[in-house]
Amino acid sequence: MKLTDIPRVSLSYLPTPLEPLKALTKYLGGPQIWMKRDDMTGLAMGGNKARKLEFLMADAINNKADTALTFGAVSSNHCRMTAAAACKLGLKTLLVLSGEKPDPPDGNLLLDEIMGCEYLFLPDFNDPSKFDEMRLAVFNIVQELTEKGRNVYMIPPGGSTPLGDVGYYLAAVELFEQARALDLKIDAIFVAMGTGGTHAGLLAGVKCLKAPTKVVGIAVNKQGSLEELGLPPVEVIVNEIGDLIGEKPNATRDDAIVDYNYYGEAYGKITPGCIEAIKLVARLEGIFLDPTYTGKTMAGMIDYIRKGKFHKNETVVFMHTGGYPGLFPYGEWFSQEA
Ligand SMILES: Cc1ncc(COP(=O)(O)O)c(C=O)c1O
Repeated sequence: MKLTDIPRVSLSYLPTPLEPLKALTKYLGGPQIWMKRDDMTGLAMGGNKARKLEFLMADAINNKADTALTFGAVSSNHCRMTAAAACKLGLKTLLVLSGEKPDPPDGNLLLDEIMGCEYLFLPDFNDPSKFDEMRLAVFNIVQELTEKGRNVYMIPPGGSTPLGDVGYYLAAVELFEQARALDLKIDAIFVAMGTGGTHAGLLAGVKCLKAPTKVVGIAVNKQGSLEELGLPPVEVIVNEIGDLIGEKPNATRDDAIVDYNYYGEAYGKITPGCIEAIKLVARLEGIFLDPTYTGKTMAGMIDYIRKGKFHKNETVVFMHTGGYPGLFPYGEWFSQEA
């Protein structure tokens, strides 16, 4: 299939800006730091999932779905953006959320409530002993809705399927077009890695364009979490994206750089490095990061820079994948001056 044959709906403002972070670059003493502002995709406060949802929701519509079902943590950005896309396109949303429903709702869940989502709250997704129970609960609710005449389109966690990830293949193409116009050679891209689809899409673009650029995924989950979700390793996803669009990225395990040193104790548990990164970028650049994805990824990038892994004249791009609403429930970590 050719890329242009894949159905797509428009949900984002593209291209997103590519912006130099001059004050952060000066503060850290180089390399040259740029930020790709996918926090500004626009859909319901922006973020990376808008690009994936352009393909996934087009598929839902082609399948005549009236309900989008997806999965995430209680304060999932992916769920909020899926719900927003569904609202915009006239579908209902059923969210399968991990954990207890907080009362009153906060962060992304508050926005989900405002959008009128339906929910199924399940125990902690990270507990493999509960997987069968959770699968059965999802199966039952889908069956119940189907019996009522609803047509449910299931989107996996993070919207990470080769179809959704094509959105990030295109983000890489967009980024390199911007870089060419600015005469920039990008040495490395840093990106938060949850389910890995954003990372894989970017790497697919880098490999297909034959760019000499490293894509460094900073994991926000413990090692093995992709396998637990039933997802293949990043290099396999990259090649699956290639198969879908008729390209040959030929990614190998060496291309898929995933660093597990910055997620801290667990998914969603803030770290001192993340707090420092969030404050630093806000105070130097007037840009917010979030405590679960982009803050930890920025902490990783800053650590690489402080360890001298880049020369002063090299260029790194930080992919800002959004997540603002996730910041608000973390007030206690920022309320005291440090
Ligand atoms: C703000 C933000 N950044 C990064 C990611 C990670 O994206 P992926 O699941 O494609 O690895 C997510 C996923 O939910 C996210 O919400």
